[in-house]
Amino acid sequence: MKRKGLMHGADYYPEQWLSRPDILKEDIRLMKLAHINTVTLGVFAWSALEPQEGVWDFTWLDQMMDTLYENHISVILATPSGARPAWLAKAYPEVLRVSEDRKRNLYGMRMNHCYTSPAYRRLVREIDERLAKRYGNHPALKAWHISNEYHGECHCPLCQNAFREFLREKYGTLEALNKAWWTGFWSKTFTDWEQIESPSSRGEMALQGLTLDWKRFVTKQTVDFMRREIETVRAYAPSVPVTTNMIGSFIEVDYPKMAPWLDVAALDCYPQWGGGPDYEIAMDAGFEYDVTRSLKKSPFWLLETTPSLTNWPAVGKPKGPGIHVAGCLQAIAHGSDSVQYFQWRKSRGGYEKFHGAVVGHYGHEHTRVFRETARLGEILENLGEIEGTKTISQTALLYDWNNRWAIEGAKGPRQDKFYEETIREHYRALRRYGVNVDVIDEEQSLEGYRLIAAPMLYLVKEELPQRLMQFVQAGGVLLLTYFSGITDENDLCFQGGFPGPLGELAGVWAEELDLLYPQERGGFCCTGESLPGEGRWSCRDYCEVIHAREADVEACYTSGWYAGMPALTRHRIGKGEVWYLAARAENDFLLLLYGRLLERAGAAYIPGGLPKGVTLCTRCGQKERYLFYTNWNGQPVTVEMPEGEEMLRTGEAKGEQGSMDPLETVILKQKLQ
Ligand code: GLA
Ligand code: ZN
Repeated sequence: MKRKGLMHGADYYPEQWLSRPDILKEDIRLMKLAHINTVTLGVFAWSALEPQEGVWDFTWLDQMMDTLYENHISVILATPSGARPAWLAKAYPEVLRVSEDRKRNLYGMRMNHCYTSPAYRRLVREIDERLAKRYGNHPALKAWHISNEYHGECHCPLCQNAFREFLREKYGTLEALNKAWWTGFWSKTFTDWEQIESPSSRGEMALQGLTLDWKRFVTKQTVDFMRREIETVRAYAPSVPVTTNMIGSFIEVDYPKMAPWLDVAALDCYPQWGGGPDYEIAMDAGFEYDVTRSLKKSPFWLLETTPSLTNWPAVGKPKGPGIHVAGCLQAIAHGSDSVQYFQWRKSRGGYEKFHGAVVGHYGHEHTRVFRETARLGEILENLGEIEGTKTISQTALLYDWNNRWAIEGAKGPRQDKFYEETIREHYRALRRYGVNVDVIDEEQSLEGYRLIAAPMLYLVKEELPQRLMQFVQAGGVLLLTYFSGITDENDLCFQGGFPGPLGELAGVWAEELDLLYPQERGGFCCTGESLPGEGRWSCRDYCEVIHAREADVEACYTSGWYAGMPALTRHRIGKGEVWYLAARAENDFLLLLYGRLLERAGAAYIPGGLPKGVTLCTRCGQKERYLFYTNWNGQPVTVEMPEGEEMLRTGEAKGEQGSMDPLETVILKQKLQ
């Protein structure tokens, strides 16, 4: 169904209720009350569609598709490969995943099949084909939802062979592989491809080149499996968009490798809000949205979140009043064109019977959760013109899956690397200035950015330094930090000093890396011309000892044997500059630094930053710009806002310009000249 406007809906599992036509009827009435315009059908519906091998039953789905269409509700139809029927596992045991300790799983759970198994691929193709043939042209169909949260790995003999094939293709010869994996150490030289096994706690855990290639293989195999599903449905419905629900920054799957095959990037996101407003949680959720949006640099879909609680944390606290509306509008602010939930109606039994849903076990609409959901639905209906509008970012954070894997997998120089925390610290500092932030990997385009921050760029892909150099020469500002330029794509250390191929950009060389104990703190102060000289700043965990070769010194250490040596440098190249931060500086310093970097980069930002606890995101249409402000503080706050038509205010207008209540969202609309 080609509907304009933002989507609002839920995963709908009518197959749970086929013996209750009264409930299915009531669902439609309630969906209308909740302003639901799109539902996802068929995730995990395999056994309802094919109760026995070769025995098909589409009657319930036919009826559902028709009924939803008649009621003006679109359908995102899933392929059911995320969970297989018991008969299938019994008939084809090869589909059962083998864990890293080489034990084959028994039947059970879900999302745990072998991605290589020809039998599974054939059976999936068959059911996908039937769905596509039957519903590809159904007027209710809005998009395909391919499988569910692809993730995990299988170590079965079929996967081992496919892994060896992958390695053969990549390296050509064992000699090249041995060189790349540095197998001369600890007598690990391979003399036959058959000797190579995937990493295992019972076997090889120490060969980082192998581990990295295994992770790349797992992504490749997952993407390959997904592509076959996509090809199958596309063959019958070429113009229906295709997506899959990713999990934001989830480390297992290299999502930038998955995204090119999708029409729309989508994610599931379950911020653990707790009972009240929480700026930190909002920042973490915002990061996930930005990761997903940046995959295609286009609007994305939020395909799952909860209307109230999740059942999997230690304590599954329901969202307190007002959080649902604010939290879901935040996804829209970051570029989502949808808010979808898991799930529509609570299951009576099974694993997720206590998970939040729009309709609870009581089965009616007279609940706080339902009311807040309906309210959001109404708001989204009125924001229809925002659909398709873009997020334009002048700043980007480099966040690459290979880099994450390599840092995480490196034995030392300290075991807690704090990479993920560091990325989020930098993200938060940038966000305080009210700028949109793209989160990109090392291969994505750098076009359009004025400031790129690349904290802890440990693994450097071959072409990146050259691309960054072009970016800087053309006027861009780049921030690099300690523990960067350490290894190449095979996790082999660069020879001739760190930061390896980034040295020319940074204009410094790093001689040593001092690592601080958890309670230990270092210090530095600003000595250069760019930042105010007062104050001594604290740093922790990493203090790199660097020498400024061509760079200007902006700050010096006040602690350690390296006191007086540079802690922050600036290197002018062409029209731009590269800053190098040698220590893990405290957050207040990052805030100061980013204010300066945004200014140097000539980016549009709010000098002095937003009030603490307030977020701002913008989306741009052809003629309008939309500014989304939210107050995540527990108390009201005054926010200076530019001129613009007030399109939405979720709190009460107080007459006092710019005052926002806790969890209040304001959307301003400005005409673009
Ligand atoms: C994931 C799954 C859903 C559901 C939710 C619960 O996102 O895709 O099927 O299990 O978690 O939070
Ligand atoms: Zn396998």
